[in-house]
Amino acid sequence: MSQAPIISILNGPNLNMLGTRQPELYGRETLSDIEKLCRAHAGTLGLAVEFRQSNSEGDLVTWIQETRGRAAGIVINAGAYTHTSVAILDALLAAEVPAVEVHLSNIHQRDSFRHHSYVAKAAKGMICGFGSHGYILALDALARLIKGSSEA
Ligand code: DQA
Repeated sequence: MSQAPIISILNGPNLNMLGTRQPELYGRETLSDIEKLCRAHAGTLGLAVEFRQSNSEGDLVTWIQETRGRAAGIVINAGAYTHTSVAILDALLAAEVPAVEVHLSNIHQRDSFRHHSYVAKAAKGMICGFGSHGYILALDALARLIKGSSEA
């Protein structure tokens, strides 16, 4: 039996604080709740999930590098590094693995410095404003992309 394609779900700084961090913006679910949702949904799509979080930009760069040739897709919520990190953009471009950008909040309704995303330049698309459901939508989008590329 062939192995399920791996989706690497990467979470950036302060997302470990979900549940207690500005719940009016980010909701009451913890990151571990979101991980459970992702694992359950990925299972229904025939995908395997690696779920990680770091407050460090370097960890995120290393994890993105490690997806090359190994993972079938990336879901990334880079947190505040979204708006600052050329290093994460470069890592995503080098990985050549399809990536979907996720944000819990609608970054376009927030401070103007959150309107720009470096990640967006390397992502297939962005989902923002749907809370944790954004991760589910991202998995659906990747499942479709992966299926499409294997049929090509
Ligand atoms: C976020 C939006 C970012 O602007 C912010 O820095 C975060 C969370 C989101 O999921 O809505 O840390 O990525």
